[in-house]
Amino acid sequence: MVTVADLREQDEPITMLTAYDAPTAELVDEAGIDSVLVGDSLGNAMLGYDSTIPVTMDDVARATAAVARAVDEALVISDLPFLSYGVDPAESVANAGRLLKEAGAQAVKIESGPHTVELTERLTQVGIPVMAHLGLTPQHVHGIGGYARQGTTEEQAAEILDLAEAHQEAGAFGLVMEHVPREVGAAVTEALEIPVIGIGAGPDTDGQVLVVNDAVGLSPSVPSFARAFGDVRGEMRDAIEAYRDAVVEGTFPDDDHSHSEGLDL
Ligand code: KIV
Ligand code: NA
Repeated sequence: MVTVADLREQDEPITMLTAYDAPTAELVDEAGIDSVLVGDSLGNAMLGYDSTIPVTMDDVARATAAVARAVDEALVISDLPFLSYGVDPAESVANAGRLLKEAGAQAVKIESGPHTVELTERLTQVGIPVMAHLGLTPQHVHGIGGYARQGTTEEQAAEILDLAEAHQEAGAFGLVMEHVPREVGAAVTEALEIPVIGIGAGPDTDGQVLVVNDAVGLSPSVPSFARAFGDVRGEMRDAIEAYRDAVVEGTFPDDDHSHSEGLDL
């Protein structure tokens, strides 16, 4: 079992992918990926929403439970969804705790800001490991007005660096840096002792994370910083069309896929 301490000590680049269901999580785990993130990207990737805003605790808890059942080795980290934290401290702790107690996650990830430093410290104290998340924080889509790259000025980059250090100080075991210039990814990685996992943050972080739908080529399109390493969408389309054609043409089920007991009916 990979633990948060293992990630901290690992010399090799850390690999992380999202997963939201058991069969995908099983493949990710069998491939030796270090950590599976049950991201709130499940809103877009699996539930058909156009943002992560509508994702609920029930959505993340159900997906986390499926992933945790399928994973033997990888560290399972779950996202706290929009407004499940940062409003009422007691409720934030209860929601994070639910993902460990009921769903089987080993850690939570929180889209971070000045308002999550105290919460990170509290959760760490009670035994809930926290991964921070800075740069582009998609739950702020309505405040930002989109999904633009963050930390694009020296002033903004310095703010990110300060917040990263504050979360490390508060006890975060790691940090996701999303969609920032590569020099920001490099500078934050250099400044922190805890592992920095990048997505759209360049090659100089301690590890990389992608949304699994993007990585396997299931998403209709991928962000500029992501890459499809396969064509699952094409494979699924071909299989679905072949099934439809076979039924319509009467070639499925054939004798090989039909069973007879020789009944006289
Ligand atoms: O929800 C998610 O998939 C994430 C990763 C992109 C880091 O937060
Ligand atoms: Na997320």
